[in-house]
Amino acid sequence: MNGLFISFEGIDGAGKSTHIAALAQAFEAQGREVTRTREPGGTPLAEALRTLVLHEAMDPLTESLLVFAARRDHIQRVISPALAQGRVVVCDRFSDATFAYQGGGRDFDWGVLAQLEAWVQARNDGTAAGGAALLQPDLTLWFDLPAAVAAQRLAGARVPDKFEAQPGAFFEKVSAAYARRCAQNPERFARIDAQESPQSVWLEVLSTVRARGLL
Ligand code: TMP
Repeated sequence: MNGLFISFEGIDGAGKSTHIAALAQAFEAQGREVTRTREPGGTPLAEALRTLVLHEAMDPLTESLLVFAARRDHIQRVISPALAQGRVVVCDRFSDATFAYQGGGRDFDWGVLAQLEAWVQARNDGTAAGGAALLQPDLTLWFDLPAAVAAQRLAGARVPDKFEAQPGAFFEKVSAAYARRCAQNPERFARIDAQESPQSVWLEVLSTVRARGLL
């Protein structure tokens, strides 16, 4: 059975977490082996880098290098081996988050990010289905909702990290960059209206995955 790579994206407060767990369970209920993971993170090294990225002040290039370094380790040690074993990889964020947060939120150079993406996600095993040059998710579920709604949901929920503490204008830019990334990759992206009730959002997630014949 072929491996399957699904990523979840969206601004902080978009409500991805419960649906990530539910989708993983839905695949397991069909007898699939699931690797549930996250970025930045997913390996001891990448989790150590995550702590730095989420809590230390740094310039946008440093931030981008660290998230891509974490991603490289994650791909090498977890994602690629799991896909090679035919597992379903359900990942909370992947490189679209770098384009959204560093490229959009931080106004960092999109071209530099594309170069880092090309280095880090280059397939070197020659087994890419359809000959795709870069490792990308088969499906990216983008939880879209207005920044003001997300901020309301997050208010008082927990001590904010470096990104969660950013003003609304930052998340407007993050959202705009997700929309750009979605427009550039329409075959891979599915926009989920994350303003709806959790039940409706789940039904949309499920129908999206089913419509693509993945579940
Ligand atoms: P989360 O696991 O709670 O979603 O937190 C991860 C945070 O890191 C979130 O605010 C988005 C941010 N982030 C980036 O800035 N760049 C990235 O490449 C990734 C994967 C996450």
